[in-house]
Amino acid sequence: PVIYVITPTYARPHQKAELTRLKSVFLHVPALHWVVVEDAPHKSQMVSEFLKLSGLTYTHLHQLTPDDWKLKSNDPNWRKPRGVLQRNAGLKWLRRKFMYDGDPRGVVYFADDDNTYSIELFTEMRDTRTVSVWPVGLVGGVMVERPQVSTIGTGPRVTGWLTGWKTNRPFATDMAGFAVNLALLLKKTKVEFSLNSPIGYLESNFLEKLVTLDQLEPKAELCTKVYVWHTRTEKPNMKDEERLRKEGKATNEGIEV
Ligand code: UGA
Ligand code: MN
Repeated sequence: PVIYVITPTYARPHQKAELTRLKSVFLHVPALHWVVVEDAPHKSQMVSEFLKLSGLTYTHLHQLTPDDWKLKSNDPNWRKPRGVLQRNAGLKWLRRKFMYDGDPRGVVYFADDDNTYSIELFTEMRDTRTVSVWPVGLVGGVMVERPQVSTIGTGPRVTGWLTGWKTNRPFATDMAGFAVNLALLLKKTKVEFSLNSPIGYLESNFLEKLVTLDQLEPKAELCTKVYVWHTRTEKPNMKDEERLRKEGKATNEGIEV
């Protein structure tokens, strides 16, 4: 099965650094198709060239978040959901592609551009029949959030979630903690992310339209291994750059960073 990795991304000083970290891992993963969706009014030259030279199989899309759904610079980052319309644009592209394409064997994974992904993660998710789940490190105010797995009875199954935060979410996982079978997403033609999900419920609201808890497939050695981390990149200090720019001496004049 092909792994379709959908990544929302937006312009900022460290965007290329983030995309480079992802590329360096994805190049080690066989049969990976990267669907990069820019939150922008058009595809940027930087991302276009970056993808062209990446050596990866990819699709480049763009989908602008309207102004009233964008975070203002002083908003705490949990005020509005991020990447929603971009992930939906990726889903729409997949559904259109497979209207004509015969072979829907695949897996869909939503990979934000700032997280840290291991190669092993992709081995784990490749065989996903419905929705597979695993632990995510450094998220939700704890070292690790993870599915609770019971091995009593017929086979391993997920019975709940170990999280520090909003523990009564039906599917208390971060975006980085699950993958979905492609045929399932193609069958459920209407399922997408919602801008109206209550804060913290983006993933849960999406998953409850696709599966029930007992259908989840626990990966990563019964959810005891951490193969992905919800890292967040520090905003680079541009204090001197702003001064130099005003003096007409931007350090990145004629050079892409
Ligand atoms: C957490 C989750 O890990 C995200 O998957 C979820 O979308 C987000 O919360 C949410 O509540 O909406 P967090 O680290 O806070 O993530 O979010 P970011 O990493 O800042 O953004 C998620 C993705 O959206 C990234 O790939 C980012 O590049 C993209 N994004 C962010 C945009 O496309 N446009 C923006 O204006 C901001
Ligand atoms: Mn993030």
